[in-house]
Amino acid sequence: MPALEDSFTINDLEIPNRLYRSPLLECADNDADAAEVLRQELEPAAASGVGLIFQGATIVTEEGGCAAPGMTRVHDPDFVRELKTVTDAVHDHDGRIFMQLEHGGLRSMETWHQGYRSEQPDVQQLAPSPLPPLMKAVDSMGFLEYDVNPLSTDEVYELADRFGECAGYAVDAGYDGIHLVGSNMGIVQQFLSPFYNRRDDVFGGSEAARSRFLELLYRRIRDEVGPEVPVVTKIPAETNAPPVVRRRITFEEGVRIAERAVEVGFDAVVPTEVSTFWDASLVKGEYPEKAWKDEEFQNGYEEAFGCSRRARLVSFLNRLEASVYTFEPAWNERFSREVRRHVDVPVLQEGGIRGRREIDRLLGDSCDAVGMGRPFYAEPRLGERLLDGDDDVEVACESCNNCTVPQVTGADGRCRTPRVLEKAGRLRKEEVDEGGASSSASGAADG
Ligand SMILES: Cc1cc2nc3c(=O)[nH]c(=O)nc-3n(C[C@H](O)[C@H](O)[C@H](O)COP(=O)(O)O)c2cc1C
Ligand code: SF4
Repeated sequence: MPALEDSFTINDLEIPNRLYRSPLLECADNDADAAEVLRQELEPAAASGVGLIFQGATIVTEEGGCAAPGMTRVHDPDFVRELKTVTDAVHDHDGRIFMQLEHGGLRSMETWHQGYRSEQPDVQQLAPSPLPPLMKAVDSMGFLEYDVNPLSTDEVYELADRFGECAGYAVDAGYDGIHLVGSNMGIVQQFLSPFYNRRDDVFGGSEAARSRFLELLYRRIRDEVGPEVPVVTKIPAETNAPPVVRRRITFEEGVRIAERAVEVGFDAVVPTEVSTFWDASLVKGEYPEKAWKDEEFQNGYEEAFGCSRRARLVSFLNRLEASVYTFEPAWNERFSREVRRHVDVPVLQEGGIRGRREIDRLLGDSCDAVGMGRPFYAEPRLGERLLDGDDDVEVACESCNNCTVPQVTGADGRCRTPRVLEKAGRLRKEEVDEGGASSSASGAADG
């Protein structure tokens, strides 16, 4: 069985070990200091020895498509060139960094963020098809606001070109690979899903046809980055969708999507069991009580959701979701294992992985590398404790989700639970005292 410290390859790229930081929102936006924000967010993980860093999703279009405030757009080659300082910083620690490409489609802010919507009333949501009946009902209740632009066949090809171009810019800026948000209810999942995709052209109809957009993206990206750059994608199975949703990507179809993705050429896959909706199935854990109550964010919640009454309604729905999507250790294990039985490229697993013993159990069984998301908000230098760590090492993060909700207000992504931060500080100090970590307790790479 491979150990966490063992290297592996994606395409021909050697990754120094099997621990990766899964993509998280960095809130770097496109401001003048975006590269510096990204560097400060990502370098600590590399400095702590993490082999592979997936930057949070970046948007391929000039307008629309952001799922949350503060997401970075990468349509402008001059802007992306500036990110060389980020890739250099990661490479200085012998880490590898991939850019993740995305368009939110129906999940975008222009659907749900009232403040953004009133500032940008003309931005439509890109979508594979007109709204499914269930979403029309939500729209008519005024809870979400849709103004959908179902893409023509030509527009599908044009959007794929944008993904390809941005991938090319990323490689020019030193990124080692490209990661696609094939899941998380972004536009790729919307094309894959029979719930959203009701097209009658080459990109819709049969199960295989619904995969064609993903395959087209691969080919356009490959055209731009050449044969050697690794190209990776998340793969969805909509097993968490509520029972009322009958048309969905089943577990078995998710496995077949992964097989097709590998056949067309993807170099690694990240299987994720998700819902048809953008909900707490992506971040299983607790209801973020503290975050919803925090005075600091009340105005931002009102701006995002339109008024305090609607903000309370969203909070109530969040409580319901949290009662359904309770924390489940390593929740993508079953899907990852099944995909791994069917493909011959590395399978990367993330979602609820929290300790070294669990990692050792998963590696070589359900996956070839393990990723963590929220634990890096709590411990930006997590690699120091996990790599070469004892088998009882556990992360400090408690999956309470207090870091997630404030992000709808544009607040930056970081752990917001004081007791967890105290614990993280204590654990880091112990690590430094024992000599297992760099003793520089401050400085650029400390985060
Ligand atoms: C605040 C936040 C932002 C996220 N942003 C992204 C993203 O940009 N792209 C993506 O593929 N996944 C994103 N995810 C999902 C994570 O990569 C990861 O799959 C998820 O958090 C589960 O892993 P964890 O339990 O270790 O946190 C995000 C998760 C959180 C909490
Ligand atoms: S607030 Fe902190 S402890 Fe809670 S989920 Fe986020 S990182 Fe983990």
